[in-house]
Amino acid sequence: MNIIEAINNRHSVRRYTDKKIDENIKSELLETINECNKEGDLNIQLCTEEPKAFDSFIAHYGKFNNVRNYISIVGKKGKDFYEKCGYYGEKIVIKATQLGLNTCWVALTFSKANTICEVKDGEKLCCVIALGYGETQGVAHKSKPIEQLCKVNGEMPDWFKKGMEAAALAPTAMNQQKFLISLEGNKVNAKALTAFYSKLDLGIVKYHFEVGAGKENFEYF
Ligand SMILES: Cc1cc2nc3c(=O)[nH]c(=O)nc-3n(C[C@H](O)[C@H](O)[C@H](O)COP(=O)(O)O)c2cc1C
Repeated sequence: MNIIEAINNRHSVRRYTDKKIDENIKSELLETINECNKEGDLNIQLCTEEPKAFDSFIAHYGKFNNVRNYISIVGKKGKDFYEKCGYYGEKIVIKATQLGLNTCWVALTFSKANTICEVKDGEKLCCVIALGYGETQGVAHKSKPIEQLCKVNGEMPDWFKKGMEAAALAPTAMNQQKFLISLEGNKVNAKALTAFYSKLDLGIVKYHFEVGAGKENFEYF
């Protein structure tokens, strides 16, 4: 599965089977996590065979079942923390999808106190991503039309349209899609609108946009 196919096939999955994550798959995923930690100066951790974070009233209320693996998105607090967490977290989600795993970003419906990740002084646990083999592959979310998610003067170039199609497939908190991507010449601006978790969403959306549009086709302004 290539990255674009993974972007198309990824849907949130909240119910998982008992199947353990294969050791080879785990080490491939860890490689991507290590790369992201290095590039983004983050402390993202893979937590496996640990059911407690999703064994609470709030997690079951949030429709989660049998989550025993998750990725903890941890990093130094500071400027662009949420956007960076979104960007690199989604890079890992797409890699997990390519490896045949299912995922779900979770900011609210898990037990923060029960997570086993390490959070050092000056760091913060942003959220987690549930991980494993899903009972189903999930379903595609309803999306706003692309025209509502971007601002373009004149004709929309093909690369920009492809970027927007990938951005519209990005997971966002409560499927809110509170972002706006503008094009001026070959310069692109992506901004978060006012909403809960919209900065985290923005990083996720920017990763999708870059994959769809091709980084070589534009610069951010
Ligand atoms: C930042 C973020 C936080 C989320 N938090 C939760 C959550 O706490 N509980 C939950 O069930 N789903 C959560 N989701 C999953 C979204 O509801 C889901 O991504 C959205 O409805 C779009 O569906 P899709 O991922 O299947 O495309 C979250 C998603 C994102 C991006």
